[in-house]
Amino acid sequence: MLSSHLLICLIGLPQLFLIVQGDGMIEVFKWKQMDFYNRGDGLNVVPGNQGHQGTSRPDRPLSSAPVVFPGKYSRGKRESLTSRDSPQGVRSRIGSNTDNADAPYIPYNNVPMGATHYRGRLFVTMPRRRVGIPSTLNYIDMTRDGREQSPKLHAYPNFSLNQFNESSQNLVSVYRTTVDACQRLWFIDTGMLEYPNNRQQIRRPSIWIVDLNTDRVLKRFEIPESLVETGRGLASLTIDVEPNKCGDAFAYIPDLVYRRLYVYHLSDDRIWAFEHNYFNFDPLAGDLDIGGQVFRWDDGIFSTTLGQRQPDGSRDVYFHPMASTNEFVVSSRVLQQESNAARSDHGNDFRVLGSRGPSTQSTMHDYDPRTGVIFFAEIQRNGVGCWKSSKPFTVENHGTVDSNASDMIYPSDLTIDDEGTIWVMSNSMPIFIYSTLDTDVYNFRIWKQTTTKAKRGTVCE
Ligand SMILES: *[C@@H]1O[C@H](CO)[C@@H](O)[C@H](O)[C@H]1NC(C)=O
Ligand SMILES: *[C@@H]1O[C@H](CO)[C@@H](O)[C@H](O)[C@H]1NC(C)=O
Ligand SMILES: *[C@@H]1O[C@H](CO)[C@@H](O)[C@H](O)[C@H]1NC(C)=O
Repeated sequence: MLSSHLLICLIGLPQLFLIVQGDGMIEVFKWKQMDFYNRGDGLNVVPGNQGHQGTSRPDRPLSSAPVVFPGKYSRGKRESLTSRDSPQGVRSRIGSNTDNADAPYIPYNNVPMGATHYRGRLFVTMPRRRVGIPSTLNYIDMTRDGREQSPKLHAYPNFSLNQFNESSQNLVSVYRTTVDACQRLWFIDTGMLEYPNNRQQIRRPSIWIVDLNTDRVLKRFEIPESLVETGRGLASLTIDVEPNKCGDAFAYIPDLVYRRLYVYHLSDDRIWAFEHNYFNFDPLAGDLDIGGQVFRWDDGIFSTTLGQRQPDGSRDVYFHPMASTNEFVVSSRVLQQESNAARSDHGNDFRVLGSRGPSTQSTMHDYDPRTGVIFFAEIQRNGVGCWKSSKPFTVENHGTVDSNASDMIYPSDLTIDDEGTIWVMSNSMPIFIYSTLDTDVYNFRIWKQTTTKAKRGTVCE
C-alpha cells in the first residue's frame, strides 16, 4: 500500500497508468508502401544478394496457364468468402496511373503478411494476391537496416528462387514462416496466384525447409492432390521437434478453407489429414468491422501453437479457427499417429478450452516457453491478447497487451523468437481488400516486445 502511494507521488499518474496497462508493443518499422533491393527490373541488384539480372519476366500469368475456377475443387461445398478472397466483382487496383500493369514491381500491390525473426534477420512474406510482386519470401537485414524506418527487403534465399515462374522449382506464394529448434526456416508455398476473380494453382502446394546457417534448401515436399485440392487455405504451420532429434520433426498445418489439420512427418516423408467439427468457423463470430470495413468471413482453423513438453514427450497443440473466439486443444500424441487420422470418431481427443471473450477473433497465436503465456494476434481488437496457460481458460483470464485501431490495423502475424521477443505484423488487409489503401499514410507496421514486458500489468502476469 505504502509503496504504491509512493509510486504515484514519485512518477505521477500518466506513467502509473502505463505500468498498470502493461508495456504494450513497440513499433519497429512502418511503411506506406513496401520496397525491395531487387525489384526484378534488373537495375536494383545489390552485391551479395545474388540477384538475377537480365531476363526479367513480368509478374503476370500467361493466358495458357491453368486456371482454377472458384469452387472447382471444393467438393460441392458452397464457395466460401475467407480472408483469402476478394469479393466477386471487385477489381483490384493495379497501382497509380503511371504504373505499368506488366511491371515486375507494382508498389501498391505489395502487402506484407508474415514476420519471423531469427538472429538478425527478420523474414517478411509477400503472398502473390496481385501482380507485380518481385519476391514472395524476403528478409530485413537488422544489422544493416535495423535503424531505418522503412527498410527495403532482400529476397530470400536469393532473388532467382523468388522470381515469378522462373523455373518449375520456384516459389509462388508464401504466407507465413516459422523457425524450428534446429535453426531451420519452414514455410508453405501455396503454389497459387490468388488474383481477384482469377485464382490459379500453378504448382502443387509444397512444404519447404531451409537451413538458416547455410541458407540452403534442405527439403521441398509437394503435398499430393489426393490430400489437398488447392493451396488456398494453407496460411501457417508449426514445427514440433527436439533439438537433438532434428530428423524426427512434425509439422502441423491448418487448412482454413477445407478446415483440416495436416500433419507432416519429416523422417517418414509422409503427410496425413485430420478432420473435426472444431476446425470450423463459428457462424456467430464471422462478422467483422476492421479499419472501417464491415464484412463477413468464414475462415476455419487458422493457427496452432505448442505448449510445454510433458514428461512423456507429448505437447498440447492449441488451435483456433479465425472466425471464432474459442480455443481448442489436442495432444501431439494424437496427431502424430497417422492411423488416428482415419478414425471415424475422435472421442474426446479434441477438447474445447473455452471462449477468449468478445471480439477476440485471432489469426496467429504463439506459446512462450519462458513465461508459459500464449500471445494472440487479435484482428477485431487490432491488438495483442494473452492467456497464462497455468490459469483456467476463462474470459477474465484473457488479457490485453495492446490494442490500437488506428495504428495496429489487422495484426496478420505474431511470432516469438528464440530470444523471447514477440514480433507482430499489422497490414491493414481489410482496407486493401474492400477499399483502397491511402499511400500517403503508414499502412504496414512491424512491432516487437519481450514476452516478460508484454505480460506486465495484465492478467497474464
Ligand atoms: C510458367 O512457365 C511454364 C514454362 O515456361 C509455362 O508453361 C507456364 O505457362 C508458366 N505459367 C505462368 C502462370 O506463367
Ligand atoms: C538460389 O537458391 C537456390 C536454393 O538454395 C539455389 O538452388 C540456387 O542455385 C540459388 N541461385 C542463385 C543464383 O544463387
Ligand atoms: C494509438 O497510437 C497512437 C500513436 O502512438 C496514439 O496517439 C493513440 O492514442 C493510440 N490509440 C489508442 C486507442 O491507444
